[in-house]
Amino acid sequence: MNNPIIAALDVPSAEQALKLAEQIAPAVGAFKIGKELFVAAGPNIVKRVRATGASVFLDLKFHDIPNTVAKAVAAAVRLDVQMLTIHTSGGSEMMRAAEKSAQETAKSLGRPAPLVLGVTVLTSMDGNALTEIGCESNVGHQVERLATLAVKSGLRGLVCSPLEIAGLRPILPAHIQLVTPGIRTGAEKADDQKRTLTPRDAIQAGASWLVIGRPIYAAENPRAAAERILASLA
Ligand code: C5P
Repeated sequence: MNNPIIAALDVPSAEQALKLAEQIAPAVGAFKIGKELFVAAGPNIVKRVRATGASVFLDLKFHDIPNTVAKAVAAAVRLDVQMLTIHTSGGSEMMRAAEKSAQETAKSLGRPAPLVLGVTVLTSMDGNALTEIGCESNVGHQVERLATLAVKSGLRGLVCSPLEIAGLRPILPAHIQLVTPGIRTGAEKADDQKRTLTPRDAIQAGASWLVIGRPIYAAENPRAAAERILASLA
């Protein structure tokens, strides 16, 4: 089995990120670089994390006109990321442009195309928040609608909450990769994640990859925490 753990490098500086990455690299499958670290440390942090030999998931959730998203995706591919995110609510044309840009840029560089992952409804939004922005659908239906549109638009992966996996797996083609945050082992302190699954349960439900932040980086020994999680999946 490939290691499905994506460790979120949710720390504010390049130094902290690299120290953490070096410490846990042997126990994880990839690193996620999100908005805080990318804005603070710049694109060079992607290259430096890649230099550890690990895969990089660039989680910047692009959402703009198709031409702009296509160019941002091309720039991300040139940084040599293996996964990146876009908002499916940007529409089918934007998603197709992102996927095409990923494929064509990677081909021109002689690399495999990164996985362009669609984000559906942010887990911070509930039914009221959807109504406020003019969407009368309930959250579950809207997630399914956007996930289906993403697949029709050529995306090969989606980000979803652990509790959405069971509803999405049966309506998606088997090749679609599901990347799931909101993972908790039970050993950590309670925090802002409310709807969680354990690593093992999320994989059994059909997750392809697990995004894990605080259960690893906030642990007393991050390397040991990552190794325990990996062992729990065996
Ligand atoms: O620390 P924790 O394990 O909660 O980190 C989860 C990571 O996944 C964070 O980087 C967070 O921004 C991201 N994420 C999430 N829930 C979503 C989407 C992304 O927790 N719905």
